[in-house]
Amino acid sequence: MITLHFIAADGNTQTVSGKPGHSLMQAAEKAKVTGIAADCGGSLTCATCHVTVAPEWAERLPKAGNDEQAMLEFTAVPREPNSRLSCQIALTPELDGLVVHLPATQY
Ligand code: FES
Repeated sequence: MITLHFIAADGNTQTVSGKPGHSLMQAAEKAKVTGIAADCGGSLTCATCHVTVAPEWAERLPKAGNDEQAMLEFTAVPREPNSRLSCQIALTPELDGLVVHLPATQY
C-alpha cells in the first residue's frame, strides 16, 4: 500500500493508504478524506478533486496532460503552479509518502 498525506487548509492532516494503480482521488474517496469532492467520478469534467502537490513531490509526478491543464482553469480556488487534479494522478510505489494540500473549498 502507498501512504498518502492530505493537508487541509486549516493544517489538519489526513493520512490514508492507496493501492497501486488507483488514482489519488480514488484513495481519498475510499478513505473519506474531507476536502475532495470528485463530483464527476474521475472523468475529468469537474475540477472538484483539486489538490496542490507539496513542492518536494511536484517534480516526481508525471506532468499533467493537456486535458488536465485545461480543466485546472475551472478550480474553485485559483490554481497554483503545483496544482493537479487528483483523479489524474496514478498511484505507484514511488509515490509512497506523497504530500498534497487541499484547497479551502472545491466549489
Ligand atoms: Fe472530476 Fe477529477 S474527479 S475532474
